[in-house]
Amino acid sequence: MGARQEGRWRRARTTIAPAVEEVLLGALRLAHALAAVLWVGSALVVALSSDRHSSASSPVLRETIGAGVAVFVLTGTILAVQRLASAPVPPSYPVVLAAKVGLAVWMFWLARKAGLGATEALSPRVSINWQLAMIGILIYALAIALRAIYEGALRP
Ligand code: HEM
Repeated sequence: MGARQEGRWRRARTTIAPAVEEVLLGALRLAHALAAVLWVGSALVVALSSDRHSSASSPVLRETIGAGVAVFVLTGTILAVQRLASAPVPPSYPVVLAAKVGLAVWMFWLARKAGLGATEALSPRVSINWQLAMIGILIYALAIALRAIYEGALRP
């Protein structure tokens, strides 16, 4: 490869590669956010439309749960690695992220119980559907906090 071609290749690499990375990250973020909207939205609809003794179990729900967990874990792990590697974040970031993942695992467990027809878990006073909806909203709030912490760390 001649010097001129090599120069052109190096310029292309330094301009295209970051753009490709941004597009891929954007697609990951979109998939993660869409899974979140689907989960929190359907949990709220089921909680609002069912009484506390009725189970929301259905084959569709079980499949949605399975697919959602896979999307959350795959995209969430890549987003976490990217965030932690891309800038010096304050200690609050991994702490809030750990709390978010802990709540997510708890929500996946509850959803699996709901998918198997359970109507109560942990507290008999709050139906499993409302527990799922409330944990989903809390996780969403922690996601917003994560972004604020990260963007705050970038500001001079
Ligand atoms: C293993 C599970 C999960 C991991 C590792 C994970 C990780 C992450 C990470 C690292 C981010 C980027 C935060 C930032 O901006 O710095 C994020 C964003 C987000 N997460 Fe998760 N997450 C998980 C599960 C969930 C669940 C279960 C929900 C919702 C119920 C959720 C909702 C969101 C939302 C709404 C965002 C913001 C997306 C955006 O608009 O950019 N995540 N998550």
